[in-house]
This record gives sequence, C-alpha cells and structure tokens, in this order.
Amino acid sequence: MKLAKNLEKLGTESAFKILAEAKKLEADGKKIIHLSLGQPDFKSPKHAVDATKKALDEGHHGYVLPNGIIECREAVTRKIKKLYNKEIDPERVIIMPGGKPTMYYAITLFGEPGAEIIYPDPGFPIYESMINYTGAKAVPINMLENKDFSINPEKILSLINENTRLIILNNPNNPTGAFTEKNKIDQLAEGLKKFPNVAILSDEIYSRQIFDEKKMPTFFNYPHLYDRLIVLDGWSKAYSMTGWRLGWSVWPENLVEHVIKFCVNNHSCVNAAIQYGAIAALDGPDDSLNFMMEKFTKRRKLIFDGLNSIKGIDCSLPGGAFYAFPNVKGTGMDGKEFAKKCLHEAGVAIVPGTSFGKKAIDYVRFSFAASQDNISKALENIKKMLS
Ligand SMILES: Cc1ncc(COP(=O)(O)O)c(C=O)c1O
Repeated sequence: MKLAKNLEKLGTESAFKILAEAKKLEADGKKIIHLSLGQPDFKSPKHAVDATKKALDEGHHGYVLPNGIIECREAVTRKIKKLYNKEIDPERVIIMPGGKPTMYYAITLFGEPGAEIIYPDPGFPIYESMINYTGAKAVPINMLENKDFSINPEKILSLINENTRLIILNNPNNPTGAFTEKNKIDQLAEGLKKFPNVAILSDEIYSRQIFDEKKMPTFFNYPHLYDRLIVLDGWSKAYSMTGWRLGWSVWPENLVEHVIKFCVNNHSCVNAAIQYGAIAALDGPDDSLNFMMEKFTKRRKLIFDGLNSIKGIDCSLPGGAFYAFPNVKGTGMDGKEFAKKCLHEAGVAIVPGTSFGKKAIDYVRFSFAASQDNISKALENIKKMLS
C-alpha cells in the first residue's frame, strides 16, 4: 500500500492517548483520577435531551440541509443577539458535527504551500496539525510570554506578512485557561484594519465559561471584520454536550458556499434530531450552565490554591475554560516526566504541556472537570508523590 505523503504531517490530540493509557491501568486494577480530558462532567440539559427524543418520535430521521436546519441556524442568531446584541444573518451560520470541523474547514480554505497561518502555541493541537497537513507554514504565537498567558496584540500583528492568510485565536484558551480582556482584543481588531487580506478564526468554544462575572470579548463586536471573520462555537462545552458532536460557526458571506461544499463532501448534514435538542439548549434556561459554573468556580480555587501550595509548582489563576496550566520546573522534572510520574505513581491522569506546543516543556494541563473530592485526592496524591 502506498499512502499519501501528507499523512506524515498530520498530528493528533494526545489527551485521547492518555485516556487510553489510563483506562488500561484501570483495567489492571489501578485507581485513576481523570484530570486529562476537556469535557464537563455534568449531564446535558434535560430540555435538550427531551427535545431530541421528541424529534425522533416525530420522525426527524432523514437527511436535512448540509448547513443545518433553518430553525437551528435561527436559534444560533437569536442567541448571538441575546448574548452580544449583534444581528447575524442565519445564512452565514453553519451547524457542524462539533467544533472541530470548523477549524478543519477554515484551515483547509486558506492553507497551502507558500501560505502562512498564525496560531496560538501552546494551543489546541489540531490547529498546528491541520496547518501542517495543508502544507502551509505554521507561525506560532508564543502564549507563554505573558505570565497570565494572555493575548498580546502587538506581538500578533508583528507576525503578519504578505503570505499570512489566517490568524487563529482562542479566548478563553485551551490549554492555559487564560482569559484576555476586551481592551486587548479591541487593540487587535483595530490593528487588523491594516491587513484587509488576513482572515480571522476566533475559536470561542469556551465563551460561556468565564470567571469573575467578566463578559466574553467576542469578535462579533467588530462588524468591520465580518467580511473575513469566522467564529467557532458550539454546544460541547457550554451545555456539556461533547459526545453529541454538535457545533456552530459563522462565516463571511462569500465563504459560505465553499464550506457547504465541504459539508456535502464530508458529512452531508448534522444528525437531524439533535438539531432540535440544540435549539432547546440555546433557547431554554441556562440553569445547567449556571450550576456548572458555580462548581467550576469552587474547583478553580481548590486547584489553584492546591497546586501553588506544592513546592516546585507555580500556577496562574485560570480566567476561563476549566484548565489549570502550572509550571512544574521547580519539581526537578519537565512536564512530560511529571505527567508520566503522576499517572503511574499518583494515579492522576493529566496532559504534558508539549501536547499543546513545543514551547510548553515545563508545563502540564490539569482539567478541573472533575468533582472537588477527586481534585482534593489528586492534589494529596501528587503531594505524597513528591515528598
Ligand atoms: C479550543 C477548542 N476548540 C475546539 C474544540 C472542539 O470542540 P468539539 O468537541 O465540539 O469538536 C475544543 C475541544 O476540546 C477546544 O478545546
């Protein structure tokens, strides 16, 4: 068999590998606390589940439009209006099987040899993987330069040249948990006026998971960028619906037909019945999300205080998402060694920083999508492991 050469360039998401390794240890009888996967540990909202069941009972089992049923796209625009007070044409909305396909399609639309795409490093690993796969040059934004891992607008603007086609941003950020305030995003949006040929992919999948009552500094705030702005969001994180494989994105008008072609070539359409559940999630009460954020707020404090109380570990306060990204250099280990030891000796599954970019050698990612009891026990086990 002769496989395509480009396959060598395709990366992966190692949180899934770590999960497989942890499951193997569990099968051998070892107790593991899972702090590696980026998924809320809560049930999906009941009204979303009920609406999906009802849709199935009513016979919504067939193919639907590749960009999503109009009712679902309209629900997305209602939510954007409610959250951000911005009017978006539902024809610019595409319902996707998860958040990931939006990044896949956006990067494929712009990436080819000779093109450059700017992306956060450390960042969600699929950005770099997909950029490399298309043959474009992956240009990293060093997210470790600021102590709080926030976005530095001047730095990003300085990376743009005549080959730059796309900038990928992610706020709040995975894996760092960093939250960048609106004034910096304003600065970046202003600076981008000088580069009218550069498109923006704003990954806002953690837009509803921000601490301290702060507002999401969405790119929808900048209508002057709408003709080159792609916003990625979805149901996975906000509504604890990761396994439903359901996401939405908003595209510049002139890209919609290309993206729909990708949808038709790849997945035809998103599961019809779950789109009714998706509408219910968006239009229904935010009780589940509020409950989740109450829990995440307590867990954030627990993990931030706990990690910083361990000698050799230095952790910034996460401003959003549900990740803590401490530097573990002071323990005498790099992130990879530390994560390995945690899994095998402390029974705690976490992800080394290098899974998110080469620069994060001294870091590890803890997901605090786990009960307070489990987080406390994990911290205790790590303390014991290091003593
Ligand atoms: C930054 C970021 N974007 C997108 C996604 C993908 O979300 P989905 O599971 O809906 O594909 C994730 C998932 O972890 C993420 O962390």
